[in-house]
Amino acid sequence: MTEPEAEAVERTFAGIALRYDLANRLLSFGMDCIWRRRLVRMVASAEPKNALDLATGSGDVALSLRDALPADTEVIGLDFCQPMLDEAVRKARLAGETDASRLRFVRGDCLDLPFEEASVDALTIAFGLRNLEDRALGLAEMRRVLRPGGSLFVLEFSQPACWLRPFYYLYLKAILPLFAWVITRDRSAYQYLGATISKFPDQSELKAELEAAGFDLVTASSLTGSIVAIHHGVKEA
Ligand SMILES: C[S@@+](CC[C@H](N)C(=O)[O-])C[C@H]1O[C@@H](n2cnc3c(N)ncnc32)[C@H](O)[C@@H]1O
Repeated sequence: MTEPEAEAVERTFAGIALRYDLANRLLSFGMDCIWRRRLVRMVASAEPKNALDLATGSGDVALSLRDALPADTEVIGLDFCQPMLDEAVRKARLAGETDASRLRFVRGDCLDLPFEEASVDALTIAFGLRNLEDRALGLAEMRRVLRPGGSLFVLEFSQPACWLRPFYYLYLKAILPLFAWVITRDRSAYQYLGATISKFPDQSELKAELEAAGFDLVTASSLTGSIVAIHHGVKEA
């Protein structure tokens, strides 16, 4: 596995934090909200007592989990990039969230999670796994903190259906960095996005990685012509 270097990843996201949400909405034509909603619905159906959103970034998944899960469910968002977390906290305040026992954001590293073993019911990671410097170590940490019977949900870009590939890769490599430059003034961040997406494993390869990391009952659900997928795995009871 060749993964991006952590410091460069943190710097990249720090540089685009203030425009990250806007860029997501425009560059995905609003599809990112639909994909995250689907993820949150899957988590809600597992009825967790607590949920940890890794690589939470500007907090969209954590905030939606807070809205979708019962009031006594604790939701935590974790990221190592402070400017992205600042955005998440700002959005939580705007949404009127003041109760830290319901939703809080912590700075931390997915490769060294600041949580006890077997302490989390549901783990989510949306568009984050692709950015980890060591994916196998990240998956091992996720498995460590999940309680037996707990679920991991990975929302991530995948390799699209064959007919879509020529248009998709043209969009990723040529059009997206240009639009992204207009929105964020940072063309390299979105060249990075295109490069990490095209190198990322397809659904069966990622399924195999989750199984190799010790997750059971691994399934993959394709969304939007397999542009993205949600993988679900369970830590055996
Ligand atoms: C593409 S953003 C995804 C943000 C959010 N989950 C979403 O759905 O929009 C990737 C995030 O992963 C974070 N990240 C990358 N590697 C990390 C690590 N090792 N530990 C914590 N956060 C990490 C980055 O700081 C960034 O905020």
